[in-house]
Amino acid sequence: MQNEIVTLDGPAGAGKSTVAKLVAKQLGFKYLDTGATYRATTLSIIKKMISIEDKKSLINLLDSIKIDFDIDGNVLLDNERVTNDIRTKTINSFVSQVSALQVVREYMVNLQRRITESGQYVVDGRDIGTVVLPNAFYKFYIDADVNERARRRHEEEISKGIKTTFEEVKKSVEDRDKYDSSREISPLTVPHDADVINTSIMSIQEVVTEIVLKVNYIKHKNIQ
Ligand code: CDP
Repeated sequence: MQNEIVTLDGPAGAGKSTVAKLVAKQLGFKYLDTGATYRATTLSIIKKMISIEDKKSLINLLDSIKIDFDIDGNVLLDNERVTNDIRTKTINSFVSQVSALQVVREYMVNLQRRITESGQYVVDGRDIGTVVLPNAFYKFYIDADVNERARRRHEEEISKGIKTTFEEVKKSVEDRDKYDSSREISPLTVPHDADVINTSIMSIQEVVTEIVLKVNYIKHKNIQ
C-alpha cells in the first residue's frame, strides 16, 4: 500500500493540473505533472528533428534526455526552462502521438516512479492510478463535459496570449481525447477504484475541497 500518493487522472482540460497544485498545497504534498514529461519529450523530438519511426534515434534521445522540475514548478529540459514552450499548439497536436509510443512510455513511467518513490505526492496524468502507481491509496478521476473543457482551455490559452478560437481548441481537445483513450498502451481509462468527480458545474475550489476532504477522511479512517 502506498498511502502518501494522490492520483488525479482524466482528459484534457478537466482542470487536473490546477486542482492538483492546490490539493498538493493544502495537503503539504509535492506535485508531479506527468503530462509535462511527455510534452518535454515531444519538444525535444521536434528540436532534434527526430522521426518517431526511427526507434534507434528515439532511444538515443530518451537515454540522454534530462527532464526536471524546479521548486517553483518550472519544467526543465536538459537544464533549460521550457515551461511555456511545452504548451504551444504544435506540442498539443503532436504530444498524443509521442505518448502512444511504447518506448517513450517505458522511459517516462520509470522517471515518474523514480520521482515519486520517496515523499508525498499529488500526481496527475492519464494512467497514474491504472499503470504508473496502481497501489496509490487515494485515486481520483476528474472529468467534465467536452464543451466545458474546451471553454476552460480556450480561456487559459487566451490569457497566455496564444491566438486561437474556441472551435480550434475544442477540436484539439477532442482529437487528443480520442487518441489518448484509444491507444493500445495505457489508454486513458477510469481506474476501477477511483472516485469520479464530474467538474462540469463545479468551481476549482469546490473540487479541491472535495478531494482534500476525501483524502483526510480516508486517512483518518485508516488511523483508527
Ligand atoms: O493538461 P492537459 O490535460 O491538456 O494535458 P497534459 O496532462 O499536459 O498531457 C499531455 C498529453 O500527454 C496527453 O494528451 C497524453 O497524450 C499524454 N499523457 C499521457 O499519455 N500519460 C500521462 N500520464 C500524462 C499525459
